[in-house]
Amino acid sequence: MKPRLVVTRTMPAPVAARIEAAFDPVFLDISGRFDPESLLDALDHAAAILVTPADRIEAGLIARIPVDVKILATFSVGTDHIDLVAARASGLAVVNTPDVLSFATAEAAMTLILMCARRTGEGERAVRSGQWPGWTPTYMLGTSLEGKTLGILGMGRIGQALARMAAGFSMRVIYHNRNRLAAAQEGPATYIADEADFLAACDVLSIHLPGGAATRHWLNPARLAKLRPGVIVVNTGRGSTIDDDALIAALKSGQVRAAGLDVFPAEPTIPPGYLDLEQVVLLPHLGSATEETRTAMGMLALDGIEAILAGQDPPNRVA
Ligand code: DGY
Repeated sequence: MKPRLVVTRTMPAPVAARIEAAFDPVFLDISGRFDPESLLDALDHAAAILVTPADRIEAGLIARIPVDVKILATFSVGTDHIDLVAARASGLAVVNTPDVLSFATAEAAMTLILMCARRTGEGERAVRSGQWPGWTPTYMLGTSLEGKTLGILGMGRIGQALARMAAGFSMRVIYHNRNRLAAAQEGPATYIADEADFLAACDVLSIHLPGGAATRHWLNPARLAKLRPGVIVVNTGRGSTIDDDALIAALKSGQVRAAGLDVFPAEPTIPPGYLDLEQVVLLPHLGSATEETRTAMGMLALDGIEAILAGQDPPNRVA
C-alpha cells in the first residue's frame, strides 16, 4: 500500500505527477488563508504532510496531528512558519528545501536592486497610465550601480549567489555575517566584521536573514540611522526582519532612497504605508518562483519524505 501524503497547496505539475505515482495523495488545494482544521480533518491514515510557508504549523496544531503522521515536509527553505521545538518534542520529522532556490532568490534580489536603482517600477507605471511626458534629459533619473557598494546581510547560499551577480554589475560587494566564510564561498565579497562599519559602507543593503524571534525587526531605527543617507534597502528573506514603520519613516525622510520588498510580516497583507510610496518596489514573494526552482523544491521535499519513510536520515532534515 502506498503511504498517504496530505498536500496543502496545488503543486507544480511534475511534482504532482510524482506524488500521484509514489503516494496515496490527498490534495487539499488550499488557496488563500490556511485553515488548520481542514488539514486536521484530512489526516486519517496519513503518513506525511507537505505544507508551504503560507501554512502556519503552530504547537497547538502539532499536538493534534495523529501519531501515524511521521513527517512534515515544507515546500520552502524557511521554517519559521513551523514550531520546530514542538515538532521535535512530538517526534515529527521535518524536512525542507535548501539550496535549490538559492540562484532564483538571488535573481529576485538583483531584480529589486535594479528596479530600485533605475526606478523601473515607477517608470512602468508612468507608461501604462499615460503619464510619460516623453524623453527629457532630466526625466526619472535613477542611480548607477557601477562602483557602488552592495552590503549583503546574511551570507548563506543566496547571499553568495547574489555576490557573484552583483560583481557582474561592477558593484563592490561586502558582507556581514555571524562568521566569516571560507575564501571560496566569499567569492568577490569582502567580510566586514563590525556591524556599524558594514552599515555605514552600504549604498545598497540586501537582507537575507531567516525569520523568527532572533531576527525580528533587525532593521530598526537605530540601524537605519547608521546607514548612509540615500541607501537602497532590499529584502528577499522574511518580512519580520524589518520594522516597517521605521523603514516607511526613513523612506519618507529620504534617509532611504528606495526599497525593494519581496516579503512581508503578515502576507499577503502589505503594510499600508508602502503603497503610496513611488520609490518602493513591492513583489508578491516571488523569490523562488520559477518553474524550474519550484519543481526542484517539490522534488527535494519528496526526496526527504521518501528517505525518512525508508528509515534514512536525509540531509534536508531540520527536525
Ligand atoms: C522559502 O523557501 O523559504 C522561500 O521564502 C519561498 O520562496
